[in-house]
Amino acid sequence: MEIGEYPLQNEEIALEALKAAMEAYSNGRGEWPSMTTEERVLHVKKFIDKMNEQKDNVVISLMWEIGKSYDDSVKEFDRTIKYIIDTINEVIELDRNSSKFSIVDNYIAQIRRSPLGVVLSMGPYNYPLNETFTTLIPAIIMGNTTIVKPPRYGVLLYKYLLKAFQESFPPGVVNIIFGRGSDIIPPIMRTGNVNVLAFVGSSRSADLIRQQHPIPHRLRCVLGMDAKNPAIILKDADLDLTINECIEGTLSFNGQRCTAIKMIFVHDSIKNKFLEKFATAVDNIKIGMSWIKGIKITPIPDENRLKYFLEIIEDAKNNGARIINNNGGLNAYNFFYPTILYPVNKDMRIWTEEQFGPIIPITSFNNLEEPILYITNSNYGQQASIFGYNKEDIAYIIDALSNQVSRININSQCQRGPDVFPFTGRKDSAEGTLSVFDALRAFSIRTMVAAKSCDSNKNIIRNIVKNRESKFLSTEFIL
Ligand code: G3H
Repeated sequence: MEIGEYPLQNEEIALEALKAAMEAYSNGRGEWPSMTTEERVLHVKKFIDKMNEQKDNVVISLMWEIGKSYDDSVKEFDRTIKYIIDTINEVIELDRNSSKFSIVDNYIAQIRRSPLGVVLSMGPYNYPLNETFTTLIPAIIMGNTTIVKPPRYGVLLYKYLLKAFQESFPPGVVNIIFGRGSDIIPPIMRTGNVNVLAFVGSSRSADLIRQQHPIPHRLRCVLGMDAKNPAIILKDADLDLTINECIEGTLSFNGQRCTAIKMIFVHDSIKNKFLEKFATAVDNIKIGMSWIKGIKITPIPDENRLKYFLEIIEDAKNNGARIINNNGGLNAYNFFYPTILYPVNKDMRIWTEEQFGPIIPITSFNNLEEPILYITNSNYGQQASIFGYNKEDIAYIIDALSNQVSRININSQCQRGPDVFPFTGRKDSAEGTLSVFDALRAFSIRTMVAAKSCDSNKNIIRNIVKNRESKFLSTEFIL
């Protein structure tokens, strides 16, 4: 059954979108970048109301197109609205803190954050709404103009938001383009007129896109990329809690999360008990269509991924792993049953490749240095989870990993939220940091007006401020 369609636009239309974004920015003198924060916030608030009117359409669209369960689709929508509201509050706070002068040595200065120009925002298929908006909204609210290229899957929801964007923002501020990334992104990048690339997806694609820019130092990149987050299960771990967290961590949205746990290290002394209980728990998971209440495993949107899952399982088996749960490896149409592979080793592709699906590789360890070495040698550096209670062991791992990954979770799965926390990574996992607070900084640059503190300069500043002659040089306070 056909659930929708979208246009495959070409280079010409892509360049038209860029032109519109550049005109709206007008070298920083366009209507949008010239507005005060307070004025821009009003537009974003209007957008929230219009977006909320489309909630049912967006949720159903997410559920049908990417196979996200109904409950998780609702969560993605609500989380996005909350992110926008939190961003509004944060930008107001930022503006209030900038509405003053600093007097240092013999200088008087006002320091604000200014937009950077045209932002190209590209989100991934697993969070096509949320992860696009966590870059798009801070980019807009800071005064940039934008081009949005939705992912290949998770694109249909944008149909329901086009009018909301059109009615909430001046022309050219948000330009949504549809089509194959390989057709429409390189022409835009090659012009050198994109100032910020905000991309969430594979590091390979991120590199291909950024390399098209002719003047790389003029391109700021905010990237969320690959990850292979490990869980380390210590000998005194609470097995019930660990299993629950590992099920959520490995299998939420079929394991299609950049933050998913993608490798499990379990201590030798408890491996048998863990494997048995974990395999039973995995085999009890409900699999079915995304609208069924309580469903966990749903269809995979891209059927090519199933071929890949079979390949990495076969490779692991050829190198000595076994599928240890009864339903492991079963698949039909776009469904793939969660598959636990044990014991995995460094000769297997699954050891280093990010599976981004319901395949769970497990290995055992005796010495804490084994999982630590794995993480140190890994190309990825996003997060890790530790399960257990021995505080010496936990402290030892924290100190070993705190310069390898960007978040260490104790007795809980890896995750991005709460969204006010910094979300970033090292190595191939990320560039830049996103959070409600950090994203406003990622899409802006500090700019200041400074003068020697003599009477004539003070008079200039005093008069400009008093007569409200400048939007930048101003002590207006948002109440
Ligand atoms: O796919 C990556 C997402 O940012 C993960 O977010 O941990 O809240 O699922 P999440």
